[in-house]
Amino acid sequence: MYTCGIDVGSASAEAVILEKNNGKFKICSYIISPTGGDSKEAAQKVYTNALAGAGLEKKDINSIVATGYGRLNIPFADKNITEITCHARGVVNFFPLTKTVIDIGGQDSKVIKLDPEGNPADFLMNDKCAAGTGRFLEVMSKVLEIDLENFADIFMKTKEKVDISSTCTVFAESEIVSLIGHGVDKNKIVKGLVYSITNRIVSMVERIGLEEPVCMTGGVAKNIAVVKAISEKLQTSISVPQEPQITGALGAALLAN
Ligand SMILES: Nc1ncnc2c1ncn2[C@@H]1O[C@H](COP(=O)(O)OP(=O)(O)OP(=O)(O)O)[C@@H](O)[C@H]1O
Ligand SMILES: [Mg+2]
Repeated sequence: MYTCGIDVGSASAEAVILEKNNGKFKICSYIISPTGGDSKEAAQKVYTNALAGAGLEKKDINSIVATGYGRLNIPFADKNITEITCHARGVVNFFPLTKTVIDIGGQDSKVIKLDPEGNPADFLMNDKCAAGTGRFLEVMSKVLEIDLENFADIFMKTKEKVDISSTCTVFAESEIVSLIGHGVDKNKIVKGLVYSITNRIVSMVERIGLEEPVCMTGGVAKNIAVVKAISEKLQTSISVPQEPQITGALGAALLAN
């Protein structure tokens, strides 16, 4: 049988189609696409494209589970399940021994603790403040005119950082504009920004209590600079799935039956 998981987040929407057979499964296709202004349309688009990618039609799919902040706005889903549960399920598939999940998306960041069975035991979420989320880095990337994809290279090759004193995204943006105006090396600013988001995430992990092994998911896990800085601060290695952005959608597809 085939199942589909759809995760509509603030920044991106994902669909994963699985073929399940006697407790085993295979990923037939997955799609990642920007959410844009219409989450319903984004869900429809990733679903249609994932079906095409798998060479399947709607009638072939036995069950669809929706997750993410837009999950309640997907009329063709059979069920919706919270992001916490779906992320936990997705992570356990990639790294079964995981005890702590750090998910940094476009508008929130979450730290989820897993019990020995891989179920969520506790979690902390920041969805009130953009600092500590992918949006913070997106805003700064625009001001600096440096693509987010280049942050990792810059971070690795730059020794010194400029401390960013503002804890608020809006004020930090003004601070960066002023630093650029004063001719400060943009690479040092990038390094400072990575440490700024890192400090926020690390304090969340410390509040909930670090338990190893640790796994990172969400789009920001593609930013190797952030993964490296968090790993250094927590003094532990961090596993990242090959495609960290589909973790929620994969979990949803695994939970669909
Ligand atoms: N290739 C990349 N390199 C670096 N960063 C990336 C890359 N792709 C995405 N990101 C980061 O990932 C963020 C989006 O993450 P993700 O797609 O997990 O968010 P989301 O699930 O839509 O949001 P949320 O869960 O908060 O609703 C962007 O804000 C950006 O910072
Ligand atoms: Mg998300």
